[in-house]
Amino acid sequence: MHAPTSLQGKTALVTGASAGIGAATARALSQLGARVVLVARRMERLQALAAECPAAEVCALDVRDAGAMQQTLAAWDFDIVVANAGLGLGMGPLQDGRPEDWDRMIDTNVKGVLHTLHATLPGLLARGAGDVVVLGSVAGRQVYPGGNVYNATKHAVRALYEALRLDAGGRGVRFTTVDPGMVETEFSIVRLGDAQAADQVYADMTPLRPEDVADAIAYAVTRPAHMNVGEIVLWPTDQASTRDVQRRS
Ligand SMILES: NC(=O)c1ccc[n+]([C@@H]2O[C@H](COP(=O)([O-])OP(=O)(O)OC[C@H]3O[C@@H](n4cnc5c(N)ncnc54)[C@H](OP(=O)(O)O)[C@@H]3O)[C@@H](O)[C@H]2O)c1
Repeated sequence: MHAPTSLQGKTALVTGASAGIGAATARALSQLGARVVLVARRMERLQALAAECPAAEVCALDVRDAGAMQQTLAAWDFDIVVANAGLGLGMGPLQDGRPEDWDRMIDTNVKGVLHTLHATLPGLLARGAGDVVVLGSVAGRQVYPGGNVYNATKHAVRALYEALRLDAGGRGVRFTTVDPGMVETEFSIVRLGDAQAADQVYADMTPLRPEDVADAIAYAVTRPAHMNVGEIVLWPTDQASTRDVQRRS
């Protein structure tokens, strides 16, 4: 068994750190000794999280804003970059979808990842070390009815992960995609627009918790330097596929 390496002296960027998987990941990396740089739009949430971490800095940034991302993130030399910010909006047939929702999903989930990496990857490559973790999804491996554009964005994240390995792999930087199934976070509230509908998504089954995903990310970034955990697919035991969920009622 490899003992986890300490993250003391490392600086980790986590986008989408104000909630869910991003907040849990920031806590986990901080507990392992990393200084964490927390990015999201809701500053109060970031400040509350930063107060829990021994070494944290906060940036109110929208990952869709290429210029602000480039300019602001230039202030740090990152060792770990977790491109996590993302969202789903709406659930239903493509022909009934709203183009403004499609724009937000594509701009956040795909272009937001690009802006995050464009601002940080040159530094990691120049230092010849570090970790890039992207949050994909099982939705990027299996489409499901009503998931169309969200599915497409997560398929794009998976393609970007593979492209990164080809373009930048073998130069000391490790690339990991973490692809979870159902995780109970604010994701479904954002997607469906109300808490009651979101509760139904997780009714009578046990979803993953954000801490479970953070644990997988922490595993990947604490392996010995020669070992790159490439793809982690993490399902709730109650979920057999994106279409099959075992409910107890
Ligand atoms: N929950 C699931 O079942 C699940 C499954 C597979 C994959 N994922 C993926 O995991 C990632 C995290 O989702 P989550 O479940 O933790 O959802 P969440 O609880 O809703 O958190 C989403 C985070 O993304 C941030 N964000 C959204 N738009 C942003 C923007 N334009 N600029 C900066 N930050 C932005 C939000 O912060 P602000 O609103 O403060 O900006 C929030 O911190 C997403 O990429 C999602 O697709 C989730």
